[in-house]
Amino acid sequence: MAGGTDPKSQFYGAGADMLSVFKGQTLPYAELLPEHKNLLRTEALREVYDCCNGVCLCLWFKDECEWTRVWASVLMLAPYLVCVQYILETSVYPREHEQLRALREATLQHPAALSSVPPEEGQFLSQFLKVLNAKKTIEVGVFTGYSLLTTALALPEDGKVTAIDFDKSAYEIGLPFIQKAGVEHKINYIESEALPFVDELSKEESEQGSYDFAFVDADKLNYGEYHERLLKLVRVGGVIAYDNTLWFGSVTPQDPDSTALKDPTRNFLVKFNAFLAGDPRVEITQVSIGDGVTLCRRIS
Ligand SMILES: C[S@@+](CC[C@H](N)C(=O)[O-])C[C@H]1O[C@@H](n2cnc3c(N)ncnc32)[C@H](O)[C@@H]1O
Repeated sequence: MAGGTDPKSQFYGAGADMLSVFKGQTLPYAELLPEHKNLLRTEALREVYDCCNGVCLCLWFKDECEWTRVWASVLMLAPYLVCVQYILETSVYPREHEQLRALREATLQHPAALSSVPPEEGQFLSQFLKVLNAKKTIEVGVFTGYSLLTTALALPEDGKVTAIDFDKSAYEIGLPFIQKAGVEHKINYIESEALPFVDELSKEESEQGSYDFAFVDADKLNYGEYHERLLKLVRVGGVIAYDNTLWFGSVTPQDPDSTALKDPTRNFLVKFNAFLAGDPRVEITQVSIGDGVTLCRRIS
């Protein structure tokens, strides 16, 4: 299984081992995975699917601070991923802003490149923000800034996005592209632990009900805490979006022996999804794009 200190071996080690057990061969493109996020999301899994016919693939990736093991059901994901590749090539890449593309390509060099929202999700968020006429938004979890640049580009000239992350080093990779795109003035970057910052903000009367949109893409185990505070900050009719609510497909019912059941984030998200489904304060839609994004429109 994955081990050692080499990020690459941790990244794909378990998947490669499993496949070699089943097929006597290693994961296709394994050497390329960290640098080619979209191969991981598409061709690599498609090829794995073809050769192992639905064996569960175990991937390691660095989420926030921890190396995390994620089970992805190749059987379930492969047809979807083939469609994603089609969507990317047909509808997303040709229309992606040149600075978003450059930021995405620069991010591929980062060992945690998988943390970025994928470009098809970025395109979706961009259109959603425009349909919502969003002017004031908040983002939890910036990383190199793909979703942040997407947001800043979608906001009007006098729009503002408050973006919070406790690690500015990744943002510094994305900042030159944000500057070249001419939208830095729309960004209020806050280097901080996110929950205490959002908590303080939610107590300020002048901030309450003043946000059109919130995007939460960090600190998954605290999604419930953000929800209570963001419901104060987002106006009635505004939307809170939670990323990764499908957790690589692992939120679906699992075999009792499955390793997925030992993943606290997966288990938390299962409960959180059920909680949102019953929360009368919001109207929800869980969109199967990227790793799943749940949109909660505040209705009371
Ligand atoms: C999944 S990435 C965000 C990806 C980003 N939305 C994008 O499209 O590139 C999560 C980010 O959240 C930050 N983070 C994790 N936990 C945090 C916390 N408790 N407070 C503030 N930032 C946090 C990490 O430093 C990381 O940059």
